[in-house]
Amino acid sequence: MSVDHIESADRPPAQQDVKDVVSHPPLFDGHPRMRAIRSVIESIADTDTTVLIRGESGVGKDLIARAVHAASARHAGPFIKVNCAAIPQGLLESELFGHEKGAFTGAHRRKPGQFEYANKGTIYLDEIAELPLALQAKLLHVLQDFRFSRVGGNGLLDVDARVVAATNRDLEEAMTRGEFREDLYYRLNVVEIRVPPLRERREEIPGLASWFLAKFNAQYGRQKQLLPETMARLTEYSWSGNVRELENMMRRLVVLTDGEQAVEALVTRGRNGHAAATRPLVTEGLREIARRGAREAERKALEEVLEHVRWNRAEASRILKVSYKTLLNKICECGLKPPAHRAR
Ligand SMILES: Nc1ncnc2c1ncn2[C@@H]1O[C@H](COP(=O)(O)OP(=O)(O)O)[C@@H](O)[C@H]1O
Ligand SMILES: [Mg+2]
Repeated sequence: MSVDHIESADRPPAQQDVKDVVSHPPLFDGHPRMRAIRSVIESIADTDTTVLIRGESGVGKDLIARAVHAASARHAGPFIKVNCAAIPQGLLESELFGHEKGAFTGAHRRKPGQFEYANKGTIYLDEIAELPLALQAKLLHVLQDFRFSRVGGNGLLDVDARVVAATNRDLEEAMTRGEFREDLYYRLNVVEIRVPPLRERREEIPGLASWFLAKFNAQYGRQKQLLPETMARLTEYSWSGNVRELENMMRRLVVLTDGEQAVEALVTRGRNGHAAATRPLVTEGLREIARRGAREAERKALEEVLEHVRWNRAEASRILKVSYKTLLNKICECGLKPPAHRAR
């Protein structure tokens, strides 16, 4: 059992220059609301206050978390990101707080948690709404006492880490449903930064598009240009995947030979108000893609077996090793119909 991947992959290059992150033109200079965010970051630079960053997926929450760290007195210390949605819930406590040898099956040796790695630096808890209730309670204690114990350990360890959290979920709603602790909410929400979606700061689109274009041209050794009409369309497009979608689209444009047409087609469809208007290039996370893949595979197998046994459901359930009832449910879920019932 290894959860090491989180550490190295998400660690930023050592010692980022404050200026690079905070005043890099594409991040904070393009729109008054982003400039306001920069002011907030500057005004809390000399404090250790907890920060909650909110906004849709792809708006730049991670970048802002790094900027908060880079602007702070802790900038020479580590910046550790933990994505609470990406780690199986059963492993999350040990991931955050570490464990002692023998704490659970597979815990062959003592392992420090991310809070320990974040010592003298910042810990960035992404997708905080996915934290299970029991861990919410533990986190609240950590934020109050600056102490915690490893899983399976008795001794208390001191924490010297600043906590920055982020979410794209409606925490207030999660609270009313009892899924998010109110006390933790208030403890995290000392300073709240709301990052507007890209469609509410369209002025930034040309600057961002040019910046990504230059970056990917340099990276892939190309000299792609944007036609002024294309740029105008990009500015009108809905960008429900926010800056991440724009970044992906610019990468496509640079990498594909017919990239320009691909981008044209997408933004034109968007402008004409078809479904693409609100559909980003990639709307789903890997987990959803995997789930959809599994559903499709299941449906295909079901269909093949049913055809093969001429819709003898009892036989199909034996072949597919599921109960008769499960098979009927699956048939219904997949919307499959015996040939006689199908419209020809
Ligand atoms: N203002 C910006 N300037 C340059 N790149 C940006 C900006 N905002 C977001 N990005 C890029 O867009 C992608 C999504 O940003 P990220 O911070 O991961 O969003 P979130 O955490 O809100 O989902 C990242 O690749 C990031 O580098
Ligand atoms: Mg993020």
